[in-house]
Amino acid sequence: MTEGFTLWFTGLSGAGKSTLAGLVAAELRRRGQRVEILDGDEVREHLSRGLGFSKADRDTNIRRIGYVAKLLSRNGTVAITAAISPYRETRDEVRRQVQRFVEVYVSTPVEECASRDVKGLYARALAGEVPHFTGVSDPYEPPLDPEITVSTLGEPPETTAARIIARLEELGYVAAGVLS
Ligand code: ADX
Repeated sequence: MTEGFTLWFTGLSGAGKSTLAGLVAAELRRRGQRVEILDGDEVREHLSRGLGFSKADRDTNIRRIGYVAKLLSRNGTVAITAAISPYRETRDEVRRQVQRFVEVYVSTPVEECASRDVKGLYARALAGEVPHFTGVSDPYEPPLDPEITVSTLGEPPETTAARIIARLEELGYVAAGVLS
């Protein structure tokens, strides 16, 4: 069985985590790897319904995602997570529990996320209508030593996703292959 691992995206809302998770997942599947995506919004709909955005609730959300990622990745699946996961200590706690843990920091700056404002939430947060909004009125603690850092500025997501795959090859998590 191919070895699984956990690819843990972290970054602000609108940074590009879900888009990159989808593209990386597609490429890994194309190479015959089993992959599951645990996307922030989807997890909050199912596994974490009812949780809010206090530190305690976010930590609970992240621990749940980490637990599922651990189960999947120890059974030959690549678990790709895409939640903001704003707290360094909580991410590191998950890192300690998951055998093969690869942290991907999507470092898109808050100004860029706010100008994209895919969900219209930054406009509302900046107007003071969304309390505890990450990057505006709530903290985001960037990783200090992530395995992979990407910026989504000035390049299409496909290029960024290809960089992530290349780095995974370099780190030995996936076998070298030819990108389509
Ligand atoms: S996390 O902090 O617990 O990791 P998660 O990724 O699940 O967050 O959810 C973030 C998504 O919830 C955002 O992309 C956004 O759509 C929505 N959201 C609603 N309220 C907030 C808030 N106060 N802070 C951040 N995101 C919020």
